[in-house]
Amino acid sequence: MAPAPTPASSRHCLVTGGAGFVGSHLVGLLLARGDRVTVVDDLSTGRRANLPASHERLRFIEADLREALHALGKGEVFDEIYHLAAAVGVKLVIADPIRAIETNIEQAAALLRFAIDRPTARGPAPTLITSSSEVYGKGLRSPFREDDDVVYGPTTVSRWSYACAKAIDEHLALAYHSQYSLPAVVVRLFNTVGPRQAGEYGMVLPRFVAAAIEGRPIEVYGDGSQSRCFCDVRDVAPALPRLLGDAACHGRVFNIGAETPITIRRLAETVIETLGSRSPIVHVDYAQAYGSGFEDLAARRPDLTRVREAIGFTPAITLEQTIRDLASSLGATAPLAGSPR
Ligand SMILES: NC(=O)c1ccc[n+]([C@@H]2O[C@H](COP(=O)([O-])OP(=O)(O)OC[C@H]3O[C@@H](n4cnc5c(N)ncnc54)[C@H](O)[C@@H]3O)[C@@H](O)[C@H]2O)c1
Repeated sequence: MAPAPTPASSRHCLVTGGAGFVGSHLVGLLLARGDRVTVVDDLSTGRRANLPASHERLRFIEADLREALHALGKGEVFDEIYHLAAAVGVKLVIADPIRAIETNIEQAAALLRFAIDRPTARGPAPTLITSSSEVYGKGLRSPFREDDDVVYGPTTVSRWSYACAKAIDEHLALAYHSQYSLPAVVVRLFNTVGPRQAGEYGMVLPRFVAAAIEGRPIEVYGDGSQSRCFCDVRDVAPALPRLLGDAACHGRVFNIGAETPITIRRLAETVIETLGSRSPIVHVDYAQAYGSGFEDLAARRPDLTRVREAIGFTPAITLEQTIRDLASSLGATAPLAGSPR
């Protein structure tokens, strides 16, 4: 027997970048709770196939966000707004810094203005802005706390432009909160991983998993001693509506991620062990991977006290589980070792 359909809520949510990796998981949750969802995505890094092919409560608008906001009818009002559209990934940011800077600042500015210009009957819609652990810059102390001071590298090193653009987005969202009472929430996502994540823009885990599936060498940049904390998107995405739905969280910044660090070398070994792959690990210079002058951070780890106290956030999915599920999701597009191309 088919499961009973979810009763429709009266909420209408806007998700920018909803065909992307994190956005598509969020859209799935909002549809599952009965909301109507409008997704705006230009498919620059997202995929239409990340979303249901057709769903009576889902509307997909393939367009640049600023243009789509401009084109939406005057009566178009949203109850909740989630801004995930961004130029993401170290490779993309280094390859086309102008596009990355302009996208990440201008789209957020347009979205926040839209939220003020189209209030609901109860006032401006609660609006969540996704920021990044990159805003911690060189990270003066670990784990990173939301109110820490930050230090960036010089403007001659283009990788810092992403951090600065995201920091401007945060300033804007908080300024709209204080000047216009916009119920804004800023989330700083740390390394988020899981099914549907693509490796072609420089994301480490899908790159490793795809290589392991194909039996190709796994390329670790540098000596692999740099560490990160990886959190499954299925732990991350449910936290977003919970934070936005709680008025006590408005006007605040929250880290979201996992707390357990793993070195990138150990990550590569874990992928090999979990998938039973025979891929060798090879080390590649940062200069070869990203060009000369690239600065990487030795460690990046969140302090989760604030988000834990706010909504009881505790990631539950193990890295091994994430690797297996990511492999299954990539398996549909990546050839398995020995299979014809
Ligand atoms: N995945 C992570 O580890 C991570 C870490 C830190 C921050 N974030 C943030 O989370 C958000 C989502 O990231 P993701 O990992 O899902 O990346 P993603 O690339 O899968 O998603 C971004 C989406 O935005 C869309 N997009 C880009 N420019 C657009 C434009 N001008 N108009 C409309 N759509 C546009 C892309 O097509 C894509 O679908 C981003 O804001 C990102 O900065 C992600």
